[in-house]
Amino acid sequence: MLKTVKLRAGYGKVMILQGVDFHIGKKEIISIIGRNGVGKSTLMKTLIGEVPVSSGSIEFAGKDCTKLKAYERAQLGMGYIPQGHGVFPLLTVEENLLVGQCINGNKQTTKKHMELVYDYFPRLKERRTQRAGTMSGGERAMLSIARILIGEPSLILFDEPSEGVQPNIVELIGEIILKINADLGVTILLVEQNIGLVQQVSEKAYVIDKGLIAHELDKAMINDNETTKRLLAV
Ligand SMILES: Nc1ncnc2c1ncn2[C@@H]1O[C@H](COP(=O)(O)OP(=O)(O)OP(=O)(O)O)[C@@H](O)[C@H]1O
Ligand SMILES: [Mg+2]
Repeated sequence: MLKTVKLRAGYGKVMILQGVDFHIGKKEIISIIGRNGVGKSTLMKTLIGEVPVSSGSIEFAGKDCTKLKAYERAQLGMGYIPQGHGVFPLLTVEENLLVGQCINGNKQTTKKHMELVYDYFPRLKERRTQRAGTMSGGERAMLSIARILIGEPSLILFDEPSEGVQPNIVELIGEIILKINADLGVTILLVEQNIGLVQQVSEKAYVIDKGLIAHELDKAMINDNETTKRLLAV
């Protein structure tokens, strides 16, 4: 589904990713963990096309998309939810969802799509005329997920959906991620510092350090708190 080979990228002359190699199979849920500032968000931005690739390659859905623009990757089915949720604060819930429809080509918003996301998130239906900027962190996180679902992605890149969200809603986000994966067959790449959420959803995790994939963890290693604590310790 997604594969990077010796991926190098950064800002100006400063290389943050130093040769990242990893892959995700179709319908897998994989997490990327690592300390603050190691380049997790840079990796996500490079995958979606916000940060240009310096060398190496990105393959998505059988296509080399190393040089494609962000909107072209979105049209191929790559959905991206940035750190901090990235909703438009002055737009209402419903308007934010309509923006989501534009991301994936020019498909008309169908009633079916709206019903699907309102079925996933009844809270958003109740608040559909409320401006996103006045909502709680948890509600904004739900809206960011709903907006991406409207564009029918085959892969979702989640950058720290738990940020600014209270624990019971983090668990709900985990349930939603599992449901999206099981019901809709969406492949998930999750960047997280919240190990509880990583343990709740992922089959495999990569630890990123110094711009490289330093470790690959299976389910048992992810669930071993001593291992994750040691790998994430400063
Ligand atoms: N636009 C930018 N211009 C220059 N440097 C940047 C830019 N964005 C990020 N960086 C730097 O790149 C490095 C990696 O940042 P990045 O945001 O990818 O880390 P992260 O692992 O997502 O951190 P966090 O856990 O805090 O979200 C940091 O040193 C950061 O200061
Ligand atoms: Mg980040």
